[in-house]
Amino acid sequence: MNPELKTFLEEKRGLVDSFLEGWLPRAEGPLSEVVEAMRYSLFAGGKRLRPILCLAAAQTVGGSEKDALPAACALELIHTYSLIHDDLPAMDDDDLRRGKPSSHKVFGEAQAILAGDALLTEAFSLLAELPENIEAQRALRVIKIVSRAAGYRGMVGGQHLDLWLETQKHVSRDTLESTHSLKTGALISASLEAGAVLGGGGEAEIETLKRYGQKVGLAFQVADDILDVVGTTEELGKPAGSDEAGGKATYPAIMGLSESRNLALRLVQEAVEELKIFADRAEPLRGLALYIVERTN
Ligand code: IPE
Ligand code: IPE
Ligand code: MG
Ligand code: MG
Ligand code: MG
Repeated sequence: MNPELKTFLEEKRGLVDSFLEGWLPRAEGPLSEVVEAMRYSLFAGGKRLRPILCLAAAQTVGGSEKDALPAACALELIHTYSLIHDDLPAMDDDDLRRGKPSSHKVFGEAQAILAGDALLTEAFSLLAELPENIEAQRALRVIKIVSRAAGYRGMVGGQHLDLWLETQKHVSRDTLESTHSLKTGALISASLEAGAVLGGGGEAEIETLKRYGQKVGLAFQVADDILDVVGTTEELGKPAGSDEAGGKATYPAIMGLSESRNLALRLVQEAVEELKIFADRAEPLRGLALYIVERTN
């Protein structure tokens, strides 16, 4: 990874982690268990990619990352909830996440379900407290972007298709593309779109970053499918080979590894093409696009 991107990622991760720490401190008394379960998954060491993309989008349109930070963290709360539920026995049934035993292995299924529910709900509580200088219209627009991307029109819809595809003998490329775009692309694209809105971007800038997000969002899931085949459990911090074991429809299963790699690269190139209008200001987003397909976890 190029050293500038490494520093950029470390700095942004630090911002996100300290904001989240302030937002969700340890609790005492009867609520401590569910809060502990929320914190366990939230601070288990994710890459923080969605919030980082949101902050980078705000900066790319000339805005301040301070204005985008609460929404960026709300996206991470939603993402973490989606991982807790994704690992449940009724879904992917995976016992390792972010290098640690999955939430349900430590706290039991009931607490894992509640921790996920609570993280999702907290995300919207956080969105209701956007900085005061953000105009109400922009704040409402962000709430709409995030809620649609998280719900049945987005991530939840994609998770439904992902489970349904386990029962199908033949899966077309189009169906797989819609599934991956919804289960993963939607929240990633929303991270960019929300960041662009909060950064005060114009309509053309917001649309451009949304398109960039759709492309890197799909590329991200193609890369995730590839890593499930070629990565090790240790590197990934989640069980390698889980997709094949679970009978999942994935890009490598449908088109093979090398064509999947080509597709991911092509999507990233197309995403980077979109950034021309921003000239040098989009440098972090160019680096992030490449990182998404070159990463090892
Ligand atoms: C994993 O997402 C789930 C997918 C959408 C593929 P990440 O790879 O971003 O997971 P963390 O947040 O770094 O743990
Ligand atoms: C999950 O896709 C996407 C989510 C919305 C959580 P995967 O099921 O492939 O994610 P991993 O591989 O378990 O992280
Ligand atoms: Mg899954
Ligand atoms: Mg999974
Ligand atoms: Mg996966």
